[in-house]
Amino acid sequence: MTGPGAVDPGAEAGPAEPARIDRVDVGAKRSPHNAKWSEYGPDVLPAWVAEHDFRQPDPVIEAMAATIERREFGYHRRDPEVAEAFGGWARSRYGWDPDPDLAVVCVDALQGVTAAVTALAAEGQGVILTPPVYHIFWRICPTSGRRPVEWPMRPGPDGWRLDPDDLEAVVAADPGARVLLLSHPQNPTGNVAGRDTLARIVELAHAHDFHIVSDEIHGDMVYSPAEFVPMLSLDGAAERVITVTSPAKTFALSGLRCALSIFGDPELRRRVVEAHPPLLLGHASRMGVDASVAAWTEGAAWADRLVDQLRAHRDHLARRLAAEAPAVRLHRPESTFLAWLDVSACGLGDRPAAALLERARVALVEGTEFGTGGEDHVRLNFGTSKAVLDEIIDRLVPCLQAP
Ligand SMILES: Cc1ncc(COP(=O)(O)O)c(C=O)c1O
Repeated sequence: MTGPGAVDPGAEAGPAEPARIDRVDVGAKRSPHNAKWSEYGPDVLPAWVAEHDFRQPDPVIEAMAATIERREFGYHRRDPEVAEAFGGWARSRYGWDPDPDLAVVCVDALQGVTAAVTALAAEGQGVILTPPVYHIFWRICPTSGRRPVEWPMRPGPDGWRLDPDDLEAVVAADPGARVLLLSHPQNPTGNVAGRDTLARIVELAHAHDFHIVSDEIHGDMVYSPAEFVPMLSLDGAAERVITVTSPAKTFALSGLRCALSIFGDPELRRRVVEAHPPLLLGHASRMGVDASVAAWTEGAAWADRLVDQLRAHRDHLARRLAAEAPAVRLHRPESTFLAWLDVSACGLGDRPAAALLERARVALVEGTEFGTGGEDHVRLNFGTSKAVLDEIIDRLVPCLQAP
């Protein structure tokens, strides 16, 4: 990249689906309506919000274009197709066969999460969070009168991990903890809990009478040898687990507003749905539904390329930081396009992301926003072109040295 307004060399549109997907037209991204690219001003490179910059696959765009062509923006009947499309996606990618009749289409993942959490934990009851964890989850309890309860992840030589023995101690000590809210895979650490850990969590949910809300919005972006195991595919999960997902992270569709809450048990579904006034949860938008159905039915090959591309970016970032900024500690994330950087040795003070915004003109997220364990960390989004990623690294490296 030659400057903040430049177009990547690979950005010219080709007639067919491009072989490489990491083409980013930086000039177009800098629209004032694009939150990621406009939040911090024209000289800042954005690596903050969890949104990648890649062009969506053609079938997604064609599905929306067909609706525009027909000027068909009225009420729609496509909700069942969203659940069917996800069913096919889950079957072919994860060998999991969710029942489309038990799914509920919602407007976004956080709506599905909040609806489930507040249905299953009453006011004053506890919601278990796994810090450092997706910062927006922390907003649910204070505004709804629920109590946040912490099950902190453990940092170790291979990255951050959940230890179910710790969860057992947490729920034994606090019988009022009614819901465990998981980011699975985990934002921001990139941890992917394995089958044994997940199975133990389900066992504990039965033994200690709590429910699990599993936000699986990052589930497609998992790098082997890590394996994504959908929570609801586990034995005994149906009565205890609600999964929320959407194609928004994989396909960069967050502005389109369409997500899915998935249940394995009709009674649990009824409990969550009936806990809220029927009109409060609204309906997904027509465009969101069109895009989601197309993504989940026709986006598999593109998603495979995305994962390959992101893995290459992850490894490139890790290699460059190891060589050029060895004071930074990075465990290669097993999933997501988010890197969780320990910058404690870089002398950046107690607000390292603010310092890096000021000095490097790169926007990251402050680790402390993710709760306990976030001190001395920043979260960096590497879901962009190689050229932009290299410029982000070029700008950061001089500021990430031991003092
Ligand atoms: C774990 C997780 N859940 C939910 C969301 C937001 O999804 P939505 O915009 O569909 O509510 C994000 C976005 O970063 C996320 O990382």
